Amino acid sequence: METRLIDVHDDAVCARAYDVIIASKGHERPWNEPPSLAETLVEWRHVDEAERMEMWAAHDGDELVGVATLWLPLSDNTTMTWTDVQVDPAHRRRGAGTALVERLLERAREEGRVTMVVDFLVPPESDGHGYRRFAERHGFHLSNTEIMRHLQLPVAEELLARHAEHARPRWEGVYRLETHVGGVPEHLQESLCAVMNQLAVDAPTGDIEFEEESLTPARYREYLDVASAQGRVRLTTVAVHEDSGDVVAYTDFMLPSGAPGIAWQWGTLVHRDHRGRRLGMALKVENLRRLQVDHPERQRVVTGNDDTNSWMVSINEDLGFRIVELCPAYQRSLA
Ligand SMILES: CC(C)(COP(=O)(O)OP(=O)(O)OC[C@H]1O[C@@H](n2cnc3c(N)ncnc32)[C@H](O)[C@@H]1OP(=O)(O)O)[C@@H](O)C(=O)NCCC(=O)NCCS
Repeated sequence: METRLIDVHDDAVCARAYDVIIASKGHERPWNEPPSLAETLVEWRHVDEAERMEMWAAHDGDELVGVATLWLPLSDNTTMTWTDVQVDPAHRRRGAGTALVERLLERAREEGRVTMVVDFLVPPESDGHGYRRFAERHGFHLSNTEIMRHLQLPVAEELLARHAEHARPRWEGVYRLETHVGGVPEHLQESLCAVMNQLAVDAPTGDIEFEEESLTPARYREYLDVASAQGRVRLTTVAVHEDSGDVVAYTDFMLPSGAPGIAWQWGTLVHRDHRGRRLGMALKVENLRRLQVDHPERQRVVTGNDDTNSWMVSINEDLGFRIVELCPAYQRSLA
């Protein structure tokens, strides 16, 4: 088994790598709706100053049978690496996964990193699952578990109205809610980035220690450009403090262009000074309403929450989200 760096500008290699990743992620997961090759290529080819990405392929003879991705954050969390390892189901148990993990460990050490994190999807009852055994065999330990939930759309307007009205008296007059398509306008970007940068430190993440992130308005705009080149729609509802004019809370949907039936729930965060006013529920209801009105083709929202994040989980359960699978994160020290 040989590993080779993937040239993200090689169309043929990228197409095969994409097929391998999709086959692996779709294995025993019939609900998987992958983004298209075209939108995936935009992401692979975008050079992000804040995070370097490299992809490695495992070759069995001439055939590309597995793909591993290494993300190296460059402006925060610079001792960490995030990784993803996917092997074509038809080619498993022949050492491709191991060859890829060994290559990533070597590369991460060369880059002076001290912690490696990998996550993957398994069924809710998955003690002793093969993917867990593979991670453990390579020296990783379970650090955190996100529970993946799906919400079937449309959610009944009566339910949304009930939750919205229950929340309203606690925030009305102090904040206003605004929904924006394709990102928030420039005058809100700085305060939105400050709130978004809290997500990594405020959301529970088990024993993985994150530093605050360092998203800037310039980089936020760059990510908006990437999403628009991908044909994706981003729907963001923010709570703006009436006195300061600052964003104090947000929630984001991303609508992939190649998977027209789903919406991904991205981050949701209420700044710690503004909690306890039911802004979380108010934002989620507003964003969902806009999603349902503007995008009736979307049949499902997919979200993941840490299993200890009872505040976010109870909002999601109230809205009708149901558990589908788990996303455990495993980490290992590279010392
Ligand atoms: C996990 C995954 C990457 C393994 O790839 P692979 O090429 O089959 O891995 P290897 O052949 O190198 O397996 C090495 C060892 O891991 C363990 N292992 C791997 N898959 C296993 C399974 N399904 N059940 C039990 N043990 C397993 C075994 O100890 C295996 O050694 P063995 O075959 O001599 O018993 C692959 O199943 C996959 O792509 N899964 C989906 C994505 C994922 O979970 N990625 C991250 C995992 S950390």
